[in-house]
Amino acid sequence: MSWQRHIRPTLAPLEVYDLPPSTAPSRMHANECPEPWPLEVRTALGEIVREIELNRYPDTSGRSLRRALADKHGCDPERIVLGNGSDEIISGLVTALSGAPGAGHMVIPTPTFVMYAHSAQVFGVDVREVPLTAALQLDAVGMRAALPGAAVCFLARPNNPTSSLWDAELIHALVREFPATVFVIDEAYAAYEPGCSLWDPAAPSNQVHMGTLSKIGLAALRVGYCIADPALALALNKVRHPYNVSQTSIAVAEAALTRFADVQAGMIAKTIRNRGRLIELLGQLPDAELFPAHANLVLLRLPDDARAQGLVSQLEDAGVRVKDVTRVAGLSGCVRVSVGTDEDLERLALALGLRL
Ligand SMILES: Cc1ncc(COP(=O)(O)O)c(C=O)c1O
Repeated sequence: MSWQRHIRPTLAPLEVYDLPPSTAPSRMHANECPEPWPLEVRTALGEIVREIELNRYPDTSGRSLRRALADKHGCDPERIVLGNGSDEIISGLVTALSGAPGAGHMVIPTPTFVMYAHSAQVFGVDVREVPLTAALQLDAVGMRAALPGAAVCFLARPNNPTSSLWDAELIHALVREFPATVFVIDEAYAAYEPGCSLWDPAAPSNQVHMGTLSKIGLAALRVGYCIADPALALALNKVRHPYNVSQTSIAVAEAALTRFADVQAGMIAKTIRNRGRLIELLGQLPDAELFPAHANLVLLRLPDDARAQGLVSQLEDAGVRVKDVTRVAGLSGCVRVSVGTDEDLERLALALGLRL
């Protein structure tokens, strides 16, 4: 009898999310903010890191960073829970919202961010997927059919990998119609569609706001967070490991969000401008259909998978990494291209013989 029989059976069908670090000169595959922080900011952040007492634990729950985020959002810091990336928040929410007698399922529109279903599957939570419409919008009828009895519903707005922005009124209506379901509004990419945020300190208690610093210039730090009703924040804090965010991440994130907020806003604004240039570029491909882009990524559809994969490898050969999503259900023939810097766009244009 092997010890292996003790491994949680739900893990067997799951794949490890693991990608070797890319060395491509143009990394347009991971939906990061491509703009680098200026040298003077990195120097100032380096000084902050130098002063960290490496021999001491960080604060158990990142109070100072929670306060900075609370100031930004205008809410009580007690409602904010930090995660080692929002991936950890997703996992914490699934842990906290599963296991009760007759526990409910998870509802997700698909395609969407892969970690929602992954976290559910780890815990054996039933996942009901509701395919998006042909225009990559929420299917109102399908959502209403799937939601009764659900414990949690994750809604990425804007969504990854589609870059679509789902109807706010429909989401508000669903939150009201299903008060026994927790709706997690994942606004990882909201900075790229100014004014789109559904964050509201007075939203119903079953609405959770989730954010991350990963897409706004600080992916290396691994800092995500959510703002939840105090009872849910309490449950999450019971699940969360103490000291889950390092002091380096806390200190650098806090400085970036406060002292260097203007620089960060400039990096985001530049990326929004370059999204426009990327759309113009990709729009020159005669056989590509581009979907409306609201995040820092553009989804395009080519006539078939072979053509899409050919484009991905042509770009890879030219030093530009983009993401082949042809195997994602509903996205046959599709390629996801994250926005790049000016230099990335030049490399992409040259590789494809397009006018910049
Ligand atoms: C919609 C969405 N939410 C959350 C995340 C996770 O971000 P992180 O764990 O880096 O905070 C991603 C990452 O790609 C994402 O696309």
